[in-house]
Amino acid sequence: MSVIGTGYLGATHAACMAELGHEVIGVDVDDNKINQLTGGEVPFYEPGLPEILRRNLDDARLRFTADYADAAAFAHVHFLGVGTPQERGSYAADLTYVNAVIDTLVPLLEGDHLIVGKSTVPVGTAQALQERADALAGPDTNVEIAWNPEFLRESHGVEDTIHPDRIVIGLRDGSRAEGVLREVYASQIAEDIPFLVMDLATSELVKASANAFLATKISFINAVAEVCEAAGADVTKLADAIGYDERIGRKFLGAGLGFGGGCLPKDIRAFMARAGELGADQALTFLREVDAINMRQRERLVLMAKEFLGGSVMGRRITVLGAAFKANSDDVRDSPALSVAGQLNLAGADVSVFDPQAMGNARKVFPTLTYADTLDEALTGADLVILATEWRQFRDMDPRHVGELVAQRRIIDGRNVLDVDAWQAEGWTIGALGRSL
Ligand SMILES: NC(=O)c1ccc[n+]([C@@H]2O[C@H](COP(=O)([O-])OP(=O)(O)OC[C@H]3O[C@@H](n4cnc5c(N)ncnc54)[C@H](O)[C@@H]3O)[C@@H](O)[C@H]2O)c1
Repeated sequence: MSVIGTGYLGATHAACMAELGHEVIGVDVDDNKINQLTGGEVPFYEPGLPEILRRNLDDARLRFTADYADAAAFAHVHFLGVGTPQERGSYAADLTYVNAVIDTLVPLLEGDHLIVGKSTVPVGTAQALQERADALAGPDTNVEIAWNPEFLRESHGVEDTIHPDRIVIGLRDGSRAEGVLREVYASQIAEDIPFLVMDLATSELVKASANAFLATKISFINAVAEVCEAAGADVTKLADAIGYDERIGRKFLGAGLGFGGGCLPKDIRAFMARAGELGADQALTFLREVDAINMRQRERLVLMAKEFLGGSVMGRRITVLGAAFKANSDDVRDSPALSVAGQLNLAGADVSVFDPQAMGNARKVFPTLTYADTLDEALTGADLVILATEWRQFRDMDPRHVGELVAQRRIIDGRNVLDVDAWQAEGWTIGALGRSL
């Protein structure tokens, strides 16, 4: 099989498919990425992936190329995992890269081929790609497009690919691809992981709705957090209490700085845009509010920082702990932490950022911020510390030790993960979204 697009999704998928015993070729247009992967180096931080990559390169089940012709000749099943970012100036998904894969690959194919989309796309895309492929395929070539949305979580990518919660397969009418995909996922099927076969449109909508639901859950608790603050209540205790109801569940009820990353924000916007095109825009207007609640948490945190520093951050030294959009990742796409750091910087603060893995990516997006080499260096002399990404290293900080480094014992827990009593006992003033401390 081939895996086209070897970013967070594709590189993980390629290495894990090889780990399951398949022969895999990964394809990307980025020569640097291909060289790094060929050399056994994962171009991003994903726990467990480097070991799997190297093992399968060594066992010759896995290789990488920038040459589509190589993939066209080698494989009959092609996974498509290129990016579908938000289109500039619109909410819609930009399908340039997905279309480019079809335009480049299909004319090179001979015989019967199955292209299996994994990228997150607006409903209707698979059918449009089928028409595109049919127009490009040679007379003796038969290309079928199927969809197999991906649910992996960055930081748990390996586990989620090898042991997913479920496998969703979208097929066109009269398709004969189910058997091929059952072979691809034979080990998961043997583990009784649900294997759900449906039409193309439903499979595309499964992914969009799963992400919309998750985003809504986070914004729900953040909206409640705003009311808690106004009422002098505590959103963390509230979340624990409602989370025991198994219809609600405690996961994704962590109030704080909200969601970011390369998926949820753009996916809910693309979902709204597509619903609008289909004439069902009213159905998803609530996602506008979900988006607005989410973005508001970043502003609320900046406001809280100003209040903590007597109304203005001008010239004050602020340490922002975290740059990645979540812990155990180096992904800074639409990162709430960097958004807060950037806004404070623009408001005149002297901002120092530290992240265990995302410093390189953060520097590329926000070159004007100061990046500390170590956690202690970042904390030294701070007038205010903001915990913006929930890395264990930050959660486990010793309030006494940190107190000896900073200029002022003031901290805002943007993720509601610190032990408030322990910090207050060391003389810290602590603030958090959704709690009156
Ligand atoms: N990252 C995740 O956790 C995750 C989870 C589920 C779904 N997804 C979806 O998967 C898709 C990819 O996301 P990602 O995070 O891996 O993005 P990414 O930006 O990390 O990777 C995309 C890769 O595609 C390559 N590419 C672009 N055009 C190409 C072309 N014409 N031919 C070959 N390669 C090309 C890029 O160079 C890049 O390496 C998106 O639709 C995303 O929504 C991602």
